[in-house]
Amino acid sequence: MTLTLTRHGDVTAILADRRFDVLAAPPAPHGLAWLRGAVSRFSRGTLHARRRDLATALLPPPAHLRAAATTMAADPGVTPHDVPVTVLVAALGARRAVHEQVAMVTPGYFGRVQTGLSDVDDAVEDLVDAFDGERTEQVAAAIGLLVQAHEATGGLVTRALAALRRWPGTAPVTAVLAETLRYDPPVPTMRRECLVDHDRPGQGRITAGTVVVLDVAAANRDPDVFADPDRFDAGRPNLDQVLTFGSGPRACPGRDHALALALGTVEGVLHRD
Ligand code: HEM
Repeated sequence: MTLTLTRHGDVTAILADRRFDVLAAPPAPHGLAWLRGAVSRFSRGTLHARRRDLATALLPPPAHLRAAATTMAADPGVTPHDVPVTVLVAALGARRAVHEQVAMVTPGYFGRVQTGLSDVDDAVEDLVDAFDGERTEQVAAAIGLLVQAHEATGGLVTRALAALRRWPGTAPVTAVLAETLRYDPPVPTMRRECLVDHDRPGQGRITAGTVVVLDVAAANRDPDVFADPDRFDAGRPNLDQVLTFGSGPRACPGRDHALALALGTVEGVLHRD
């Protein structure tokens, strides 16, 4: 059974509620299934905490990411969407450029397509080789950072550049990025699985095994929280309530890094000759 929640309060409550957790991926020996089974994103409990710490410890300083993104994006031959992942690949110490492999792996990693495709498994093995050559949790953490970052941060860049073209000169780039995350989120939904039967005010009885889709795009336009929600307004006073980076114990640990990468990229594009 699936339940979709669209209100800001309901989404925030589920993200803070220990009776719900991510849809976990089991351990596997190689390829995409190995990656999903070895990263924090699809782990629960103490395994999640340990793997999240491993990933967080690898994160490069945001200021470095911003500067590198600005330099790369100033080149008119570079596609802005691909700048964040390319910068991260280098900053995480990969032995060679692997952003194409990251792009190949991304849909299956998030479960949007069937796993088990051999070219996707080969791309994962390429990524392992570009880091250490061993399938360790540490290597999975580095690859996981790249896959988590790639589409979401590239998507933020593309959407913010579109917003700047549509509503030019209205606000600083940081404010345009923040409102873009609310108005047009690159990650529009999250999922949780209910672990125990219980009653919830407003939703009735929820049974274990129910998959809850958290519609972040809708929650970010909840009129109880955001006044005139369908209007793009980079001057909103409460953009800290935007849910696009999640909230609670699994909130995105790469938030500051994503914002630095996106800001640097947009700044570089704006400074093109
Ligand atoms: C605009 C860009 C980004 C958005 C919108 C975004 C959003 C999210 C969200 C919503 C989650 C939580 C998913 C859930 O609770 O089900 C998440 C998790 C995560 N994100 Fe991001 N993210 C972005 C960029 C990044 C970047 C740049 C990095 C790293 C460099 C990163 C690393 C991670 C990791 C490692 C997790 C898993 C955390 C855990 O397992 O506890 N993300 N992200």
